[in-house]
Amino acid sequence: MSVKGLIFDLDGVLVDTAKYHFMAWKRLAKEHGVDLNDGYAEPLKGISRKDALEILLDLTGISMSGVEKLRALDKKNSWYLEYIMDIDESAVFEGVLEFLDLVKSLGYKTAIGSTSDNSSLILECTGLTRFFDVIIDGYKVTKPKPDPEVYLVGAKELQLDPSECVVFEDAVAGVNSAKTARMKVIGVSRTGSLEGADKVITTFSGLDEKILDF
Ligand code: BG6
Ligand code: MG
Repeated sequence: MSVKGLIFDLDGVLVDTAKYHFMAWKRLAKEHGVDLNDGYAEPLKGISRKDALEILLDLTGISMSGVEKLRALDKKNSWYLEYIMDIDESAVFEGVLEFLDLVKSLGYKTAIGSTSDNSSLILECTGLTRFFDVIIDGYKVTKPKPDPEVYLVGAKELQLDPSECVVFEDAVAGVNSAKTARMKVIGVSRTGSLEGADKVITTFSGLDEKILDF
């Protein structure tokens, strides 16, 4: 079946915000006397806030009561919001605007498939909202990645079959989500590898529609 729709994860794919999520997790761990090195970034990436906290606690051995967890989640989000307070077009990765312009001009339908509650804010501040027919965010789905819900809802709202959609992802949890939804996945990875992705790009810079040939 030919590709008709493109569904983009947001954080770490279109905008340089994954680093701010990690900075907020680092700050939380630091409050509990633990220094998170960069090795913790991947397991915390692309999953829900709540799931990331549980993984952080598992990996570090920090323990929290139920109430402490709720407070920690609030804190993490306020720090994250503090870090992205001044976010603007400059946070959009190189080549993204040109690629979105190109695919829109070629008639592809486009969606955001992110489970972040902060997606709309980021899209507005970075000027990206206008490129998308549909925005699926944390308020529209109940099951976080790696569950396929976010991408299945994206395809449904684009009025396409999942097999007609290609997903752009930077996190293993998101790749698994899209694969379970039976979609092709283009991994976006600065290192050039992403487990499970059908293809991997390191940048949108210079990318054209040939990347959508499968
Ligand atoms: C994803 C991020 O887009 O959204 C994750 O990759 C984050 O790191 C998740 O945990 C939830 O985001 P938020 O903004 O609702 O805490
Ligand atoms: Mg991401």
